[in-house]
Amino acid sequence: MDKFVITGGKPLNGRIAISGAKNASLAIMPATFLAPGAFHLTNTPNLRDVWTLSRLMGAMGAHCELNDNDLFVDTANITSFEAPYEHVKKMRASFHVLGPILARYGEARISLPGGCAWGPRPVDLHLKGMEKLGAEITIENGYVNAKAPNGGLRGARFHFDISSVGATENVMMAAVLAKGTTILTNAALEPEVTALGRMLVKMGAKIEGIGTTTLEIEGVSELKPVNEETIPDRIEAGTFLIAAAMTRGKITIDNINPYHLAAVIAKLEESGCEVDVNGDSITLTMTESPKPTDITTAPYPGFPTDLQAQWMAYMLTAQGTSSITDTIYTDRFKHVPELLRLGADVEMADNTAIIKGGKKLSGATVMSTDLRASASLILAAIVAEGRSEILRVYHLDRGYDAIEKRLNLLGASIRRENTEEF
Ligand code: EPZ
Repeated sequence: MDKFVITGGKPLNGRIAISGAKNASLAIMPATFLAPGAFHLTNTPNLRDVWTLSRLMGAMGAHCELNDNDLFVDTANITSFEAPYEHVKKMRASFHVLGPILARYGEARISLPGGCAWGPRPVDLHLKGMEKLGAEITIENGYVNAKAPNGGLRGARFHFDISSVGATENVMMAAVLAKGTTILTNAALEPEVTALGRMLVKMGAKIEGIGTTTLEIEGVSELKPVNEETIPDRIEAGTFLIAAAMTRGKITIDNINPYHLAAVIAKLEESGCEVDVNGDSITLTMTESPKPTDITTAPYPGFPTDLQAQWMAYMLTAQGTSSITDTIYTDRFKHVPELLRLGADVEMADNTAIIKGGKKLSGATVMSTDLRASASLILAAIVAEGRSEILRVYHLDRGYDAIEKRLNLLGASIRRENTEEF
């Protein structure tokens, strides 16, 4: 078990390159089940979640090998249609294997993912979509048993009651091999969904409307393996931009698609940052105390829920009161009690946090509860006076590749230590 020891008070300045997007990898990796053969997924981030999914796919017969940021996947010899609980419980995105396995083999037995640190994460939309494509779904002993009709899945119209990244990805992957036409409406627009759609088309799928909320999919009989580059991680990029803004530093981030961060850049500018966009680089300069700036999360292209906790840490340094409302997850505020330990003044009212910024933050020992909450604690500790310890950083390692090394390169003082403390 590792912890971080952080000495706060130093501004972050410098230049870093952004990694491949975790949430893109967790969509395009399962897609390799749709076509037998060898795939080369470049710019794959070296993350715990990628290793977890690789192990699950390996248990099902795929061969996965990650060398630096090159992921080689061979799905020629799939031996099992089952995704066991021991894997799925570690990472809910394992559930994304349902659609491709069902589409290619006509049957699948996938453990229900269960909840996560901040509450229930239902998969009803995934299952309703599969049923609309003709699958027979039963749930027993914590597993989803899915069976395609004789002749395979059939194209259909399906409307997502709410915008869902994972459900859109799962149902899209099931539909590309279904017989006939599938029309998906209210499909999610996140860049990771668009990236999956583009890879499926490269594999031979027929999909119209990629990047819009209406996807028209003409099923094909087979797909072929491809090589694909993973898009950059907009959430990692936003985390670094916010870190520089909080410390009144100057940072340039490379290998990013600025359009993926339009809502975040707008809010950073509203708070007083100077942001320059130049091709696939973004430079942020902050020389003053930030203005209190309210955010409300929304599906893409709105402000991402995955940067909500980081924004809260940022608003602790603003002179005045701001609010954060998360409309995607109403209970994704496990970071608040830990931030209070650092001296923050935050009050909750349902799914809205009221932040009274400007209070002096002082170092303390705090506990990571989930991936993005942990990022929020690091950012707060970087500006807090004195020494902080952050326990259970394995949460961070799920979604950030060596974040302490990269923040230290920018001027932070973070030391990773092994500990028996839990
Ligand atoms: C993806 O999760 C991301 N994970 C999450 O990032 C991100 O927070 C989330 O999208 C929202 O942007 C991956 O891509 C691996 P959803 P996902 O389905 O697909 C409800 C991170 O930190 N819903 O878009 O699980 C759901 O409860 C992670 O990197 C249903 O009701 O999210 C939520 O309120 C955390 N029924 C809303 O939809 C369903 O069947 C959006 O969830 C599915 C979802």
